[in-house]
Amino acid sequence: MAPGLVEPAVSAESTRSLSSVTTDFDDTLRFYLNGTKVVLDSADPEVTLLEYLRGIGLTGTKLGCAEGGCGACTVVVSQYNPTTKKIYHASVNACLAPLVSVDGKHVITVEGIGNVTRPHPAQERIAKSNGSQCGFCTPGIVMSLYALLRNDPSPSELHVEEAFDGNLCRFEG
Ligand code: FES
Repeated sequence: MAPGLVEPAVSAESTRSLSSVTTDFDDTLRFYLNGTKVVLDSADPEVTLLEYLRGIGLTGTKLGCAEGGCGACTVVVSQYNPTTKKIYHASVNACLAPLVSVDGKHVITVEGIGNVTRPHPAQERIAKSNGSQCGFCTPGIVMSLYALLRNDPSPSELHVEEAFDGNLCRFEG
């Protein structure tokens, strides 16, 4: 082989055409949202998860910076991890995540974990401890804490602190 030429990592005989791999694909988006199945045909790939959520009235998820810096838009996206054989709950900046990225996953918003009459323990403790001021960033903080507690019901103080790394409060930074 001439210098500078590299052999393909996969032989030509073992590759399949793109169309043979994608024959079972369709343009329908399927996911769960707060426990309810959602099916969307021809979802716009440029729409963010945040735009979609707020557009259907789930306005507990806030729009702050719109560039992944403040955490006001934090939601939880849960999915099965075939390696660990467990469900992993990720805190996600909905302002950056395309709506189409949640195909096959479960999106949980602050509306999905509790309400005023039946709050999630994270919501209840923040409320009883006067843990918010204007409250704009609070849903994102609650969802970061929710993701942590779903993955680890007894987190260390360090892990709690780390879970809030992406959540900013306008009053306290
Ligand atoms: S709106 Fe600030 S991180 Fe998404």
